[in-house]
Amino acid sequence: MTRIYLTHRLAEPTMQRLGELFALEGATATQTSIPAAQWLRDAKGCPVLVPTLNDAITPAVIDALLPELKLIANFGAGVDHIDVAYAKSKGVLVSNTPSVLTEDTADTAMAMILAVPRRLPEASRAAERGEWPGWSPNYMLGQRVHGKTLGIVGMGRIGRAVAKRASGFGLHVHYHQRTQLHPELEQEFAATYHPTLEGLLGVSDIVSLHCPHTEQTHHFISGTQFQQMKRTAVLINTARGALVHEGALIDALERGIIAGAGLDVFEHAPQIPAALKSKPNVLLLPHISSATIESRVEMGEKVIINIKTFVDGHRPPDRVLV
Ligand code: DGY
Repeated sequence: MTRIYLTHRLAEPTMQRLGELFALEGATATQTSIPAAQWLRDAKGCPVLVPTLNDAITPAVIDALLPELKLIANFGAGVDHIDVAYAKSKGVLVSNTPSVLTEDTADTAMAMILAVPRRLPEASRAAERGEWPGWSPNYMLGQRVHGKTLGIVGMGRIGRAVAKRASGFGLHVHYHQRTQLHPELEQEFAATYHPTLEGLLGVSDIVSLHCPHTEQTHHFISGTQFQQMKRTAVLINTARGALVHEGALIDALERGIIAGAGLDVFEHAPQIPAALKSKPNVLLLPHISSATIESRVEMGEKVIINIKTFVDGHRPPDRVLV
């Protein structure tokens, strides 16, 4: 049986099926996640490693697991924690779990798109703390969402799923990415293209990030970009923390350069800066955008299919290409 090393214990149906097909090692029992120092040592000799976004798969890690390592079957869609180009140069395949997180992530982004302009976290905290003085005409006024402009950065699967939801809420969808969508797709999503990020930021009331984190998009939203946004705008990030320069975000919030933020991801997760925690106009979530039972089971199924096809001598369907 092929040896598979798991750095984290996965959903029960996944563990059961993996256990029927392969010889499992690592986080298979009560220890639900294995510290890096331990898995780096123990995974030696296994041809398949199943990491998550918590595990930095650097050239040094890949070298340490060679020559046996053949497949990195990531449990997750994003692969910015894996040096895919280096893996490829060493003949190691990388697979991921795209598509099955799309709808849940879009739901979370949409929830924040509604919640932040309408001040729902602040209002909820006031109600819980007994700080509600009673209904009054000027109490807790937020900004109307209907009729506003949503700027989507990255119109891939998740960006498009957000665009679909946003149209239903009466938002005008604008987007930016390197390549303009085919006119038929633009029509389907009623989306207006901006060839520059600056152009998109200038017209958007809400900016939602849906692009991958790469060398090119690292700190994509920094001091200059906040200056290009409307003072009434809010930023939503369910993609990757390092797309945003967190220090510049805190500065923009404190100086009123933008009006608020909804964040599910952080530059140095799981650390969240104290300055973000104390702001009434900031909604913080602990990277739960895809955290549904359904998505975790479907992600597991993708991991199983990717490993099984590989072990059977075929190319895994979700190979990450560089
Ligand atoms: C992923 O799979 O990359 C997601 O960020 C998990 O929520």
